[in-house]
Amino acid sequence: MSVEIVGRMLSTLPEDDDHPYRTGPWRPQTTEWSADDLEVVEGEVPADLDGVYLRNTENPLHPSLKNYHPFDGDGMVHVVGFRDGKTFYRNRFVRTDGLLAESEASQSLWAGISENPALARRDDGWGARGRMKDASSTDVIVHRGMALTSFYQCGDLYRVDPYSGDTRGKEDWGGRFPFEWGVSAHPKVDDRTGELLFFNYSKEAPFMHYGVVDADNTLVHYVDVPLPGPRLPHDMAFTENYAILNDFPLFWDATALERGVHAPRFHRDVPSRFAVIPRRGGAIRWFEAEPTYVLHFTNAYEDGDEIVLDGFFQGDPEPADNGMGDKWQRAFRFLALDRMQSRLHRWRLNLVTGAVREEQLSDRVTEFGMINGDFLGRDYRYAWAATGKPSWFLFDGLVRHDLLTGAEEHLSFGDGVYGSETAMAPRTGSTGEDDGYLITLTTDMVEDASYCLVLDAARIADGPVCKLKLPERISSGTHSTWAAGSELRRWHNAESAAASIGL
Ligand SMILES: [Fe+2]
Repeated sequence: MSVEIVGRMLSTLPEDDDHPYRTGPWRPQTTEWSADDLEVVEGEVPADLDGVYLRNTENPLHPSLKNYHPFDGDGMVHVVGFRDGKTFYRNRFVRTDGLLAESEASQSLWAGISENPALARRDDGWGARGRMKDASSTDVIVHRGMALTSFYQCGDLYRVDPYSGDTRGKEDWGGRFPFEWGVSAHPKVDDRTGELLFFNYSKEAPFMHYGVVDADNTLVHYVDVPLPGPRLPHDMAFTENYAILNDFPLFWDATALERGVHAPRFHRDVPSRFAVIPRRGGAIRWFEAEPTYVLHFTNAYEDGDEIVLDGFFQGDPEPADNGMGDKWQRAFRFLALDRMQSRLHRWRLNLVTGAVREEQLSDRVTEFGMINGDFLGRDYRYAWAATGKPSWFLFDGLVRHDLLTGAEEHLSFGDGVYGSETAMAPRTGSTGEDDGYLITLTTDMVEDASYCLVLDAARIADGPVCKLKLPERISSGTHSTWAAGSELRRWHNAESAAASIGL
């Protein structure tokens, strides 16, 4: 393995930090690494694995103004690349305007999500709430060969080189990017059409928009999605012909909001609503369903008169403080999958009758589901999802859900080992939906190290077919994606891309 330190950022976090989401498995990094030919600890690198795994993560550098929330940290992108049995790793901070300003000031300038916006040292900012730092730390996708990082509260989309991890400025979509509202995390790319579908939300009417960027990277469609008030949508889904947005009854308490207090409340008597919108325009149709909140959807597709929508139904979107656990477990119970009771669920929205049928697909508590990207918007069979360490925002294992048979296969990472959202990488010449690999990054507290695990997507319980060592133990993290090498090489000069990764 050849390893080089290419950057270090100043951290002003205290040596004796006791925040569990800035220490232990969530200890942030300050070093940016470039490593080639990663050490193979187990197995061998599959020769038919070609592309890059990208993961974004909150990675804080400065103490909060008052209360740190794990969604507040600055974005850091990790890249693990594979081709012809060779590998490389890069990690880079996303050079957001907010990160650069706070680095200059050597302190936090904006209030985090669990702090009062009035604490902010700056009057400007981003986010549906307003006056937040756009950390671009939530999600990462790839469109037209460029990685785009995003922020759950809405913000800019930062362009990140998918090989080097270097920030290449902000996306502007032919000068039509909705900078005033920003774009939410979880924009979707339809590889069949080359389009990017997105939404945004804010406290101002109409409270949501939906948009389409075409294969030439121009914003060609942008419409109002009027809602009854400010909402907190996090994800969307799409089918071949429709986009599906949502209005869940977990939103800021209206009375408190009048006093400037942003307190999310689950309104148990208010139905969930799904908006079905023809992708390039047309009447919005609304469907009502059981009250819940859904952080992430796995997929949607059309089946006759119905739209099938799969996602993680939360049995308890606002878990009560039951007195169990320490102060941190109680404070961050809203992030624990076992407390939210998130389970894979299916809604069938009938476009003819307007009826909704819904059913739980699995008894097991999982979230952060990933599928084979070639099946997005189409009928599919498999979802791979994370299990959570009870009471914590940490992924302690994986489940392969077979949605046809209901069969489940489980892999535990082992005590003290935590994974990231796991991307599915179809093997070169893949012949089936599960013919490929699952890739994740671990934070191994037992060995004080981090590894990239490559699993056979059809047999996850067998454990990794390959385990690669990263240069240092990295912070636990969440959202990831896979970009196929064949697709990336359409957009990047093959020689320069190969040179940039040492291949
Ligand atoms: Fe998310």
